[in-house]
Amino acid sequence: MSDATRKEGRERGEEWWATEIIEMRPGLIRLRGYPIEDLIGRVSFPAMIWLMLRGELPSEAQAALLGTALGAAVDHGPQAPSIAIARIAATCGVGINSAMASAINVLGDVHGGAGEQALEFFGAIAAAMEAGVPLEAAAADHAARFLAEGGYLPGFGHRFHPIDPRAPRLLALAREAAAAGTVSGRFAAIAEAVEAAVAHAKGKRIPLNIDGATAVIYGELGFPPPLTRGLFVLSRSVGILAHAWEQSQKPDRNKGPLPREWLWAYQGAPERRLPEA
Ligand SMILES: CC(C)(COP(=O)(O)OP(=O)(O)OC[C@H]1O[C@@H](n2cnc3c(N)ncnc32)[C@H](O)[C@@H]1OP(=O)(O)O)[C@@H](O)C(=O)NCCC(=O)NCCS
Repeated sequence: MSDATRKEGRERGEEWWATEIIEMRPGLIRLRGYPIEDLIGRVSFPAMIWLMLRGELPSEAQAALLGTALGAAVDHGPQAPSIAIARIAATCGVGINSAMASAINVLGDVHGGAGEQALEFFGAIAAAMEAGVPLEAAAADHAARFLAEGGYLPGFGHRFHPIDPRAPRLLALAREAAAAGTVSGRFAAIAEAVEAAVAHAKGKRIPLNIDGATAVIYGELGFPPPLTRGLFVLSRSVGILAHAWEQSQKPDRNKGPLPREWLWAYQGAPERRLPEA
């Protein structure tokens, strides 16, 4: 900004954090234009999330579907790195916010954050379909290219579940929502077509997982890919908080990832000594 156009004094302060989300001054709080006292008691937590992220209130059906996806991913137990880290951190003498932040920091491309890439991938298939490519061909072509380049399709595969029990239920609810006209159902169809294409290409089923299934719903509801990851973080934060809190109520101190009688395999140089001085 040139010196000539640069605002001064109070105007410069107002411009510094200009936002369309909230107005606040003494005695007044408005979110996206709605007085907070009108929202309190009338707007559910999922609807509040939608209002904050999208600027408008959702329909009841949209808010319910968002709440369904958020509820599905809250926890996967202490084998999940995010949950294990929350519990380990809680034994280290840090506050609950620190335990939560430590856990949230590992929700990346491979654990909890894969929905972002999954929705980008589904979006590329949707774009091919808009250009006239039939669903099955678009899914097979994009899956084959992805497998050739990257190997791991985001939103598919699970270390424990031959079929992730959350995914078919979420897809069924996405289809119900499509039948009711709440969403189009296109990302649900794309995810199923990708699963079929990968099964055909690899000769075994690599099932849609929770990151992929929630990405389907968030995409159906019109959220862009990066918010898919953000919404997963909001959802998993519930389990992270529950585990950090439960662990903090126990007497354990400084708890490592394994019982102390189980040590790791040392694979480095054999014992050696420094030369005599
Ligand atoms: C979640 C994940 C780490 C689980 O991995 P895993 O079950 O331990 O899988 P492995 O790395 O042992 O792979 C087992 C086989 O399945 C295949 N596979 C697993 N996930 C795959 C995927 N997403 N796309 C393609 N192939 C996959 C592997 O290529 C391997 O095949 P091979 O036996 O022919 O070599 C893995 O599926 C993955 O990275 N998925 C993508 C990221 C993701 O969605 N994360 C969210 C998890 S809830």
